[in-house]
Amino acid sequence: MPLIPFAWARTRLPWLRPVRALVARRWLRESEVDAVLAVLHPALHLNRVFARVEERCWVADDMLALTLRPNGNWRGAQPGQHLQVYVEHRGVRLSRSYSLTAVHADGRLEIAVKRQPGGRVSPHLLDWLAVGQVLELGPAFGELQWDSRSTGVLLLAAGSGITPLLGLLREALAQGFRAPVTLLHYVREHGQRAFVDELQALQAQYRNLTVRWAVTGDPASEPSGRFQDAHLDDTEAVQQVLACGPAGFVERVRDWHRRIAGPQVVFQGEAFTPPSRDAAQASGTVQLGFARSQLSVAGDRQRSLLELAEAQGLRPAHGCRQGICASCTCLLLAGEVRDLRTGELFSEPDQPIRLCISAPHRDVLIDL
Ligand code: FES
Repeated sequence: MPLIPFAWARTRLPWLRPVRALVARRWLRESEVDAVLAVLHPALHLNRVFARVEERCWVADDMLALTLRPNGNWRGAQPGQHLQVYVEHRGVRLSRSYSLTAVHADGRLEIAVKRQPGGRVSPHLLDWLAVGQVLELGPAFGELQWDSRSTGVLLLAAGSGITPLLGLLREALAQGFRAPVTLLHYVREHGQRAFVDELQALQAQYRNLTVRWAVTGDPASEPSGRFQDAHLDDTEAVQQVLACGPAGFVERVRDWHRRIAGPQVVFQGEAFTPPSRDAAQASGTVQLGFARSQLSVAGDRQRSLLELAEAQGLRPAHGCRQGICASCTCLLLAGEVRDLRTGELFSEPDQPIRLCISAPHRDVLIDL
């Protein structure tokens, strides 16, 4: 039971500035200060961001929207960005990345969590997390951006890829974007059409918005099946394409953009699953050197350097594990790596690489 109300705890964080100075000089330990503050309220921390759950709302059969109010350490975010959510599960600290579906003017945030069969974090959030409880959040990251000068925008989402695009769409419409927008959302079943009531209401309110769903498990759906060129009939006015979903989906849209839309149409894609491994390019083993850890081991060429480092007991900083947040960036000191998303090779020494989407192509030495 917190000793002080959350609203009070949120606004008193600036009072802790002198304590921060003592921690910076190492006269106090941050973990010990946080332990004392947490007795007053679990969301009260010196520097870490914790948020109180203000609302839970089911927006699809398998997706829950959570409205969160962060403490005063939150540094802000843009719609369409992502953040890490940290939970304790049976004594193990776990984290997952979720997209912001709304960033409210009063500081509240909304994320939407889709149930992942066999997952450990989503069932915790969907089934156990109650209004009033607190969650730790990481900083916002992500580069999807809506061009407000565009004369036509095409939004293509698969599964929970709808979430960052919805955040951008809500914001753009609220700010007066009136050029044509088409949203096409691919789901397996009708009940997975997230935010369907709101999207239908927006479509009725804004004449420039068209929303369509492709239900891949329903042969009668129109359009039907996975993304294909024929699903996009009238794209002449489109100047910007935003795609979000599993890596294979984003790759198919990227391919359509390359072949048909052309370079005059701006494309941004974000995949929320690890890129598929190209087994043909990635057989065999190479020598991995982790310079600061003074470790040299053999590793296979299919796995990311993040996975390979973790398999050796190293704990590189990381967030999204999808190549978006840049928190796993390290220097490539020597050797050659392959971008798992594009197959592109990089070998210039001392260049920054993202461990989670880079696989060793030849022997490598990493500054880790
Ligand atoms: S962990 Fe986010 S870019 Fe690698």
